[in-house]
Amino acid sequence: MILPELFDTHVHLDDPRFQDDRKEVIQKLPEQGITRVINVGADRKSSQASIRLAEEHDFIYASVGIHPHDSKDMTEDDLRQFAEDSEKYNKVIAIGEIGLDYHYDNSPREIQQLWFERQLQLAKELNLPAILHIREAFGDAETIMRKVGKVKNGVVHCFGGSVDFADFCIKYGYHIGVGGVLTFSNAKKLVEVVKHVPLEKILLETDCPYMAPTPHRGERNEPAYVRFVAQKLAELLEKNVENIAKTTYQNALEVFGL
Ligand code: NI
Repeated sequence: MILPELFDTHVHLDDPRFQDDRKEVIQKLPEQGITRVINVGADRKSSQASIRLAEEHDFIYASVGIHPHDSKDMTEDDLRQFAEDSEKYNKVIAIGEIGLDYHYDNSPREIQQLWFERQLQLAKELNLPAILHIREAFGDAETIMRKVGKVKNGVVHCFGGSVDFADFCIKYGYHIGVGGVLTFSNAKKLVEVVKHVPLEKILLETDCPYMAPTPHRGERNEPAYVRFVAQKLAELLEKNVENIAKTTYQNALEVFGL
């Protein structure tokens, strides 16, 4: 069987959960049909690790940014570093993941808001796509996204919002990132969203090692499992999986300027 090529737009292969077999996981990706991935930075260290992975492997790209969980430790120096990295390395193709997370509240909300806005502004100035993480903070996220204004490209990863929020995101230049949650039995809201938005606005992702799709729920996730997300999307939209793979791959190439 020839597997249709897939682009996993959100991975964390630098995560310690890959420390024992990272090399093997990466090496087998092309034969599994996962022909491009973006390793997403979440703090300064993982942003640097993302760049290293991208420098070592043709099919890995990097994003740099600080996750809302860690925005309490962010400094002006980090912002300068990200600007510098994106100039220096061609493989740095996005700023992220940035945003707001009021589910965990690991950083004070005002600090999350401050650095979300500053990093989103940076993406805009650098003319780079932004990778957004927004959890239980849709109102405040919308306020900041409006304030910074329409972006050229971006994605709201692991989309958890309503149909209305999806419409707003698309209007402001973002795509909708869809991962393992789509395969969960309680994914009602996300199912509504994927049926509502055009397929041209959807990107596939795993967010591995997190969020493993059914039938691997609870296990360590890996890029190969993005196939289960594509399969589920095909079922829901009553299309064949080749069509889903091809369209979402093309979407990702366009969003990230590849
Ligand atoms: Ni992530």
